[in-house]
Amino acid sequence: MAELEMIPIYIMGKRYIVPNTLTIMGALEYAGYKLIRGVGCRAAFCGACSTVYRLEGDPKLYIGLACGTLVQPGMYLTQIPFYPAERAQYRLHELEPTFATLVRLYPQVLKCLGCGTCTKSCPQDLKVKDYMAAAMRGDIARVADLSFDCIMCGMCVSRCPAEEAQPNIAILCRRLYGKYLAPRAQHLAQRVAEIEAGRYDEELAKIKATPEAELRHMYNTRDIEPE
Ligand code: FES
Repeated sequence: MAELEMIPIYIMGKRYIVPNTLTIMGALEYAGYKLIRGVGCRAAFCGACSTVYRLEGDPKLYIGLACGTLVQPGMYLTQIPFYPAERAQYRLHELEPTFATLVRLYPQVLKCLGCGTCTKSCPQDLKVKDYMAAAMRGDIARVADLSFDCIMCGMCVSRCPAEEAQPNIAILCRRLYGKYLAPRAQHLAQRVAEIEAGRYDEELAKIKATPEAELRHMYNTRDIEPE
């Protein structure tokens, strides 16, 4: 762990001295900002805390999640809790999982230049350029797979010279994949039918009446991979 040191950072252009052990989010709060927008899970998962920053003497523009990125000396920070992006309106059950659907709802998908700025700007290190290439081929399953961890922060949108709406195109593909293309789990349908028929009512009632400590013990000693 880094030795505690007080370092200068700049928040919206104003200089503050903060401990170097803090995340950007911690430093914002240390500096007195009360976070209402731009904060959510605090665990690098929800995408609410996107931050753009530069370091002194370095021309590169960096992007990170405020809750998961440590401060560095001379950081110039700007929070971007939301970035506007084109968002198509549709009813999923009226769509077909085809390339034509993607192009009809998001015609700009064909304008992707393949420059890779989106991939460079993704705080989750997703291969955004690759999933956009898959979208241009109509490979909906591949888009769904490559974009699975997208947190919809919009940083790729903010940097895209072709004015794409990558996260919205990707979530359309994940929805199409989930509804129409993913293999159906037959055993799941069977289990739901069994539950609806009341097969587990008695066991569920018994579990509901079990004290918490006993439930914990049962959980911790359960047979995880029964033969
Ligand atoms: S607060 Fe959710 S990703 Fe940072």
